[in-house]
Amino acid sequence: MDMSIKQFHFGAMIHGVGGQMSLWRHPDIEPSQSVSLSYYVQQAKVAEKGLFDAVFIADGLYIHEKSLPHFLNRFEPITILSALAMATEKVGLVGTISTSYSEPFTVARQLASLDLISGGRAGWNVVTTPLENTALNYSKTIEDHPKHGERYEIAKEYLDVVHGLWNSWEEDAFTYDVENDRFFDPSKMHNVNYKGKYFSVAGPLNIQRSKQGEPVIFQAGSSPAGIAFAGREAEAIFANSVSIEENKKLSDKLKQAALGNGRNPDQLLVLPGISPIIGQTREEAEKKYSEVAELVSAEKAIAFLGRYFDHHDFSQYHLHEQFPELGDIGRNSFQSVTDRIKRYAKEEKLTLYEVAIREATPKGAFVGTAEDVADEVIKWIEAGAADGFMILADVPHALEDFVEQVIPILQQRGHYKTKYETDTLREHLGLPNKPSNYRNVSV
Ligand SMILES: Cc1cc2nc3c(=O)[nH]c(=O)nc-3n(C[C@H](O)[C@H](O)[C@H](O)COP(=O)(O)O)c2cc1C
Repeated sequence: MDMSIKQFHFGAMIHGVGGQMSLWRHPDIEPSQSVSLSYYVQQAKVAEKGLFDAVFIADGLYIHEKSLPHFLNRFEPITILSALAMATEKVGLVGTISTSYSEPFTVARQLASLDLISGGRAGWNVVTTPLENTALNYSKTIEDHPKHGERYEIAKEYLDVVHGLWNSWEEDAFTYDVENDRFFDPSKMHNVNYKGKYFSVAGPLNIQRSKQGEPVIFQAGSSPAGIAFAGREAEAIFANSVSIEENKKLSDKLKQAALGNGRNPDQLLVLPGISPIIGQTREEAEKKYSEVAELVSAEKAIAFLGRYFDHHDFSQYHLHEQFPELGDIGRNSFQSVTDRIKRYAKEEKLTLYEVAIREATPKGAFVGTAEDVADEVIKWIEAGAADGFMILADVPHALEDFVEQVIPILQQRGHYKTKYETDTLREHLGLPNKPSNYRNVSV
């Protein structure tokens, strides 16, 4: 491998019947695949064949009758990733868990267990939960749902606690010394004794460190508060892909935020999500895209758009009139996404219908022949807009096509390994494994 050529990173989001309202009706999709273990195993194996760094499971904690079909009936991330750990050997296993609706002790323990089960391949996509109705599933009222900024404050404390818990045991704490009746060395076991504004946790955690030390911290949020949090905590970012220019700006801000926290910016990898659609010819790729886009009705597209805006009811507006003035609606939800939608709707003078269809069936720049897609991947990474990509392979066979057709081109051009040369997720991502770093995190 020529290390003077930038090496690319890929993750595969395994997403059942997909991130679009009507994909489940596609003739090549099995409508129950969001709860099919064999589908998840098959996709994870394809990702591993493509030498991907990780598979990725998104998640949410509130549904209603207009939610995406995939959201209505899907696996809990840590549970499915534990099953995938048994079915794979190398690929990283990243799961989404909310810091606004969980307890740090439980989550630190679940992730440490996954990390140990998988031989150091676990990652955590830290999300702060944009949907306020989630409160109703957690014995709270909508008013209790923390505001956007506060959610990141909670997350900050949460991460301090979790890192503390993951450092409960030094590497060689368990001595298993039968002769001297010493199961462990008490000097290598540490309490946390954290008392903060939101959490109070004594520790220690009841599980040892893994081969990579601690699970890798992913994050998916890119508002100013999200970027500040990423600069402090994230080791990889799952971003939206907008354009080379926009993503370059986002990537620069994220790397700058890492620098501002005294960190090496190369140890914060930016991975925009893309949905490649590959054909033998450009026409064939366009046809595959159209087959998916045509499945979506206006009604479904509008329901999909509403979710970003805290399930705002867009059916009250005229479909073919200018995108409505929404004021602050959406700012407490998926803020970075809703701000962007409002901005481009205004700039391009789009109707509600045009915005809804664009969001419900995003096309992106990665539709074409394998050569086209490989060229685009290289263009984005060389421009500094990404360090790699999260492949959202919702369209049938898209992950297989990417692995079988695009990866070999990237290998020929020296941008991609030809075998796994590392074992842990940290190592795959070029991050050092973490030695134990006991620190008293009490405040
Ligand atoms: C690409 C991307 C993927 C996301 N995936 C999830 C997810 O799986 N589950 C979730 O609850 N939130 C998810 N989010 C929401 C973010 O975690 C965050 O709560 C939201 O974007 C608001 O924060 P922001 O304004 O800082 O972006 C995602 C956001 C982005 C941009």
